[in-house]
Amino acid sequence: MTDLASRLEGVVGSKGIRRDGEVDLLDPGWHPDNLRARLLVAPASTEEVAEVVRIVAEAGASLVPQGGRTGLVGGARTREDEVVLSTHRLDRILRLDPIERVAVVEAGVTLEALQRAAAEHGLEPGIDLAARGTATIGGMVSTNAGGILAFRNGVMRHRVLGLEAILPDGSRLGDLTRIVKNTTGYDVKQLLIGAEGTLGCVTRIAVRLDPTPRARVTALYGLPSTAAALDLLRRAFGDGRLDLRAAEVMWAEFARATAAANGIADPAIDLSHPVHLLLEAGGAEEAPLQAAFEDLYTGHLEEGLEVGGVIAHSERQRDDIWRLREDTGAIYRLYPAAPSYDVSVPATEIEDWLARFAEDLEGHDPGLGFYAFGHLGDGNLHVILKRAGPLAEAEEAAIDDLVYRDLGRLGGAFSAEHGIGSKRRAAFAVHADPGKAAMVRLLKASLDPDGVMNPGKIV
Ligand code: LAC
Ligand code: ZN
Repeated sequence: MTDLASRLEGVVGSKGIRRDGEVDLLDPGWHPDNLRARLLVAPASTEEVAEVVRIVAEAGASLVPQGGRTGLVGGARTREDEVVLSTHRLDRILRLDPIERVAVVEAGVTLEALQRAAAEHGLEPGIDLAARGTATIGGMVSTNAGGILAFRNGVMRHRVLGLEAILPDGSRLGDLTRIVKNTTGYDVKQLLIGAEGTLGCVTRIAVRLDPTPRARVTALYGLPSTAAALDLLRRAFGDGRLDLRAAEVMWAEFARATAAANGIADPAIDLSHPVHLLLEAGGAEEAPLQAAFEDLYTGHLEEGLEVGGVIAHSERQRDDIWRLREDTGAIYRLYPAAPSYDVSVPATEIEDWLARFAEDLEGHDPGLGFYAFGHLGDGNLHVILKRAGPLAEAEEAAIDDLVYRDLGRLGGAFSAEHGIGSKRRAAFAVHADPGKAAMVRLLKASLDPDGVMNPGKIV
């Protein structure tokens, strides 16, 4: 290891190396095992990444790429004998072109840094998520991140126009195009998107940008049921005045828990309903958006349907509403390391799926409740059990099965936006389509026969 460390230091300099106790001074992020490795290397250029990969491969060691370490499925976990490849020094925005509406960034640029830079030109990367301040574009590409705008703009995969990566043999994939249309053979960059660092290290990304609307309005509706929330959302989608930018859902207990944790006691934010739907719309002016949100409310009332709601009338109220939704950390403070799920359910199946899951969980362990919230616009639901983790293996497998068993048949997915990492490997083995799983193994074996890049993740 010392020999390897000094060879790597020869490439990245003393600023780019952390050993042993120095690694322990860094923030491990969202998984306690992210920094078990005793060696961390931080290259400052694509060429240095390539050298690092070659040296580590030659030494027979393995590399775990890390961005902001905000992953939720242990995709960046390390063992002591592995080497972390941190992208934190690859933090330059190389190009931000308002005419092309494209940004070219290095992998370690945070989402928020890109959002801010784009905002100076009235643009946005079209992808947004709660960990924006820490999550990096390279990490978001590697996990094919989703988030709030996915129902509208697609996921990370759909925002990437070009990509550069260093492959497990140290060679460079330089597909850094900045255009939408490209039929020049297999679109191999897509293999790296969502590969969680198992097929190489993403170094540069061309991201498409969209104009940011001048005005935005946020509303929070309280509804009697999941069906009612879906119905309101359908009406919102059908209202030509509303260009929706968020359609987030919180079932009551989740909203009440995050409200309590954040001291949100605004009487206008009524959390007494069973389901809460957070809608945000963008446009040229606020007034028509407000009117449309009001009409949604009164339309519901006039039909004799139960509905409550508030349209945010100040930035502070808007922040409060968003904090309710985004402070998932509050739940983990109540139930440390609580088992959690991230599933995709097609819109027409959401109501039944959730009812069936609640019933099965009750049958499995009477009284074991759960928090539910997520991105209703695309059917991505998050479920956190009301129990501190980790669960015993057999118990975890039994509950996994309750969550996952119908999703394939229903046309959903057992991981929506968080990935497989190490946490969902067992689920992948059981629930992934066998044809797909075989192809994943084939690709991994052919691109990384020696298992240099992020071993033990996905498969
Ligand atoms: C969120 C994370 C958990 O939506 O995906 O807050
Ligand atoms: Zn989410």
